[in-house]
Amino acid sequence: MASDHSPALNPDLIDTGTPPIPEAQGWARAYDGAAGPLIDLSQAVPGSPPPDALLEKLAAAAADPAATRYGPITGDQALREAYAAEIGRIYGGSFGPGEVAITSGCNQAYVMTMMALARAGDNVLLPTPWYFNHEMTLTMLGVEARPLPCDPAAGFVPDVATAEALIDARTRAIVLVTPNNPTGAVYPPETIAAFAALCARRGIWLVLDETYRDFLPAGIDSPHEVFAAKDWRDSVIGLYSFSKAYAVPGWRLGAITAGEPVLAQIGKVIDCVQISPVRAGQAAVAWAIDAIRPWREENRAAINQRAELFRQAMTPLSGWRVLSAGAYFAYVAHPFADVPAAEVAQALARQRGVLALPGPYFGPGQENHLRIAIANVGADRIGLLGERLSGFAI
Ligand SMILES: Cc1ncc(COP(=O)(O)O)c(C=O)c1O
Repeated sequence: MASDHSPALNPDLIDTGTPPIPEAQGWARAYDGAAGPLIDLSQAVPGSPPPDALLEKLAAAAADPAATRYGPITGDQALREAYAAEIGRIYGGSFGPGEVAITSGCNQAYVMTMMALARAGDNVLLPTPWYFNHEMTLTMLGVEARPLPCDPAAGFVPDVATAEALIDARTRAIVLVTPNNPTGAVYPPETIAAFAALCARRGIWLVLDETYRDFLPAGIDSPHEVFAAKDWRDSVIGLYSFSKAYAVPGWRLGAITAGEPVLAQIGKVIDCVQISPVRAGQAAVAWAIDAIRPWREENRAAINQRAELFRQAMTPLSGWRVLSAGAYFAYVAHPFADVPAAEVAQALARQRGVLALPGPYFGPGQENHLRIAIANVGADRIGLLGERLSGFAI
C-alpha cells in the first residue's frame, strides 16, 4: 500500500479513462465458439494484409543501414514530397514538403497537435459521439474536451450554430473526424467549409482528422475544398493515418498538414517525443503512395460494399436500428432500452460471438448504441450477422 509520503501522479492523467479496447477484447475471450467463428467488429483494423510488394519494400528498407540512423525531425524528404503531391491531387491546391510532418501514427499526430494548440484550462470542441483517444488526450493535458452533441436525425453531422454557441474565450480548436469514427458519417463539403469559416472568424483552429479519407463512397474523390483556400494555413490543420488505407497499423505512420510556422512549433514536440519518425516504414510508404494505388482503390470499393451488406443483414432484425453506416463504421441503436450498452456488447460477445464496442466508449449520451467496425471482416462474415443477432436476448 502507498504510504502517506508516496509521490503523487498527475491527477489529470488519473482522471483519464482506461484504454477501452482491451476490456472489449476480454469479453470475446469468454465466447465458447458455439455459434461459429468469432466476428470481431471491435477495433478499426484493416481486415486483410497489404500487398506483398509493400512488405518486400519494407524488408529492403529495414535492411539498409541508412534506416538505422536518426532522420529529419518532421520525416524523410521522399515521403514528405510524395505525401504533399498526394494531398495536392486530393484537395487541389499545392502543398510543399515543408507543410507536411510525418508522425508515428495519427494518434501521435493528434497528441502533438493538441500540445501545440492548447494548454491546461483551455477547451477544445469535440463532436459527440467522439473518438475516445481524442477525449483522453485532452483530459490528460488538462484541456477540457467540450462535447458538441450530434443529432442522429441529421446523420450525426455536427451543426455549426450549435458549435458556435459553445465557443468561449478559452476555446482553442474544433476537431472534426470525417469520415467519422465511430459513426461512419461522411460530412458534406459545405459543412466542413462552414466550420472552417466559423473557426477563421472566431480565431480558433479547425483540426480535421481524415484517417478514413481513402474510404469515401464511390464518386466522392475530393472530401472538401478547405485546403484549396489561399488562407487555410492561418486556421486549419489536417491529420492523417497510413494505418488503414495501406493496411499497416503496426508500422505507426501518420501525417500532419499545416502551415510552416505551425509545423516549426510542432517540430519541437516531435523532437522531444520521437526525434524522428521510424525510417524503414517511411521509405516503403513513400513508394506505395503511387505504386499500390490500384490495390487501394479495390480495397475502398470492397469496404464500401460492406456498408451496404451490413444494412441488408440488419434489415430483417426487429428492434435493431442502423443509425448510420458509411466508410469503415456503422453505428446502431440496440433494442434493450434499459440495459447498459456495455452489458449488451458483453452478452453479444459471450452468447453469439459478435464483438462490437458499446456507445459510452464514445462519449456522453451514447448508452443505447453500439459501434460496429464493418471493415474488419470480409463480406462473408458481415452476411452472417443477421443470423447471429436474430433471437438474441439478455
Ligand atoms: C479517427 C482516428 N484517428 C486516429 C486513429 C489512429 O490512427 P493511427 O493508427 O495512425 O495512430 C484512429 C484509429 O482508429 C482513428 O479512428
